[in-house]
Amino acid sequence: MADKIIGVLTAGGDCPGLNAAIRAVGKAAYSKGMQVIGFLDGFRGLVENRTVRLDNSNLSSILTMGGTILGTSRDKPHRMPVAGVGEMDMSAVAIENYQRLHLDTLVCLGGGGTLKNANRLSKAGLEIINLPKTIDGDVAGTDLTIGFDTALGIATEGIDRLHTTADAHQRVIVVEIMGHNAGWLTLGAGIAGGADVILIPEIPYTFEYVVEAIANRSRHGKRFSIVAVAEGALSAAESEAAGAEPESDTEEDGDSSFAASRNIKLTTAIEKATGLECRFTSLGHLQRGGTPTATDRLLATRLGTYAVDLVMEGVTGVMVAAKGDECVPVKLNSVAGKLRLVPPDHPWVKSARSIGVSMGDGPIR
Ligand code: F6P
Repeated sequence: MADKIIGVLTAGGDCPGLNAAIRAVGKAAYSKGMQVIGFLDGFRGLVENRTVRLDNSNLSSILTMGGTILGTSRDKPHRMPVAGVGEMDMSAVAIENYQRLHLDTLVCLGGGGTLKNANRLSKAGLEIINLPKTIDGDVAGTDLTIGFDTALGIATEGIDRLHTTADAHQRVIVVEIMGHNAGWLTLGAGIAGGADVILIPEIPYTFEYVVEAIANRSRHGKRFSIVAVAEGALSAAESEAAGAEPESDTEEDGDSSFAASRNIKLTTAIEKATGLECRFTSLGHLQRGGTPTATDRLLATRLGTYAVDLVMEGVTGVMVAAKGDECVPVKLNSVAGKLRLVPPDHPWVKSARSIGVSMGDGPIR
């Protein structure tokens, strides 16, 4: 397809697999005679027209690289921080740069926050395709997101390692796992890593049930307990006080420091209530770093190459969703601003309860 030009950017929190996706878009596009232009540091690079031509020289040997060769940011075109001025709506500048470069399509790699920005630009007339990425796994409309599988493995290994030190010292270890609004990562790693208590945002917990689960283990001679808690997990009281629906801007708010202080307080409260020595560990950005798993490399390649097929067909204004073994285009405005949260009766939750894990919402069943 002679002279079609694709723009690519990565926005929001980074994750392993982004470079695999950039590589897939680039290689597939070149195989079809297209050109590919990368924008640096997310939507900021689109507004500031900071670009890099992507070709075989910079697409080689990035499949296994963590992070993103383009850089990323949480900046939004309609609320772009401008030094000495504050936030300005720079959407018109973004659109002008898109047009001046004669782009046929802009491929955005992003999660909840990016989808909202991409949808705005789509409504303003730009041809947009979004690829779902976030370690949180909370993008609506897709079974999988780039980065989730790698973070799941990192968090699981973290819990595995915490088991041995908790056992050695007869301690309760509270391990905080990323996920402001959705508990997919905490639930998955908690099950895979053998946590005894799993606390997620979607199932507000009652402190007394958390304490009872740990005390019950201790009474039965267990030397330690592991509590896996999501950044965004709240007690029932905190959840009621918080009230409002979760925003899909996790990618944009990013402030994980508040969550840590809340979960450090939880750790202290458990120690006080049980009399057991407790320690707190936040896995933090370890979950966002390093080389992607084979699963994430495969997913990134599937989504990226499918996006180029859509460009060939002139299908835009969509997110490429992973549905089983298939990729399907879903309308941006049907998923932008929406979150994929853990249903309280999800099979993973049922499995956890079946093996005696406490979800903090009642006595061990
Ligand atoms: O959205 C992905 C995510 O990793 C969240 O799980 C986490 O709360 C947030 O980003 C951290 O943002 P930042 O990297 O800006 O601190």
